[in-house]
Amino acid sequence: MKVDGVAYRTVWPGADGASVEIIDQTLLPHRFVTVPLHTLDDAARAIRAMQVRGAPLIGVTAAYGVALALAADPSDTALANAAAVLAATRPTAVNLRWALERMAAHLRTVAPADRAAAAFAEAGQIADEDVAVSSAIGDYGLALFREAASKAPGRPLQVLTHCNAGWLATVDWGTALAPIYKAFDAGIALHVWVDETRPRNQGASLTAWELGRHGVPHTVIVDNAGGHLMQHGRVDLCIVGTDRTTATGDVCNKIGTYLKALAAHDNGVPFYVALPSSTIDWRLDDGVREIPIEERDGREVTHITGATAGGGLETVALTPERSTAANFGFDVTPARLVTGLITERGVVAASRAGLAAAFPDQANA
Ligand code: MRU
Repeated sequence: MKVDGVAYRTVWPGADGASVEIIDQTLLPHRFVTVPLHTLDDAARAIRAMQVRGAPLIGVTAAYGVALALAADPSDTALANAAAVLAATRPTAVNLRWALERMAAHLRTVAPADRAAAAFAEAGQIADEDVAVSSAIGDYGLALFREAASKAPGRPLQVLTHCNAGWLATVDWGTALAPIYKAFDAGIALHVWVDETRPRNQGASLTAWELGRHGVPHTVIVDNAGGHLMQHGRVDLCIVGTDRTTATGDVCNKIGTYLKALAAHDNGVPFYVALPSSTIDWRLDDGVREIPIEERDGREVTHITGATAGGGLETVALTPERSTAANFGFDVTPARLVTGLITERGVVAASRAGLAAAFPDQANA
């Protein structure tokens, strides 16, 4: 997508052939800054600190992290160490494991002397595939949006999304936002309700920034407003991304997604989840019991960072000094609350049968 007229991806090889560039997402929407990653530790830190975040982008950055590690030491030991260090950065998004396993399987067949080049090439391939997959998700979602818009003649289609599943969460296009961009570009009138998505506010800071840059009409709402809007007929459909989806269609996504799905179910609002197949964990059946939920620093709840009137960035306390805070990063929406999964192979039922029919090659691997 374009930023000030310049086309960007969220991660790309550096011009020196030895580094990787990313957009520092912790500074958005107030500053647009790109930073280079030179080492395995740089890549691991960028993922852990959420300079890059979003399930697909975490996976692609990890793949490049392996390449950076092998450029310093192409041995089997270094390959295993890189995979272990990167796998430990964030527990919930399964694209991380998927990318690391794909890199390791490929690189084990390559002689150490050729490994760094092969790793950069494979990471680039994963990035290119992610763009193609996100674009396909957008195309399948566009068909759904067309149908929904035909049922809302004479007014913009009202869409609600949670967290950031846009191009910033992938390499380009996004998952949940890809259909929104494709629909907007196709001339479908729409408006997006953007959940602010506490505690890190990826909706208010990232989704709103992306949509604004593309010219998509949107309104930021507090996380608790969705139910009210749905009760009053002001949401036609919800669409979110996911960090891990089980083989049975349970969907793990940013904390608060489950509550939106419950409200959608109660109000007859379709609830769609957009995902690349790299987000499906074929080894899991029961999302609520089996998916590891990241617990993050309570300071993300007790404090908040924003821009001052003078243009500086400042962090302030929200809570009494002695109050502790719990910070669960994700929750699980059971498959029964999901209207459909929008994948790169079409819209499928959130069920074992639906996923297996679309991805027989992966389901039976
Ligand atoms: O904690 P984050 O910002 O990595 O969480 C991101 C989300 O929950 C997204 O909705 C999810 O990764 C789907 S992204 C395409």
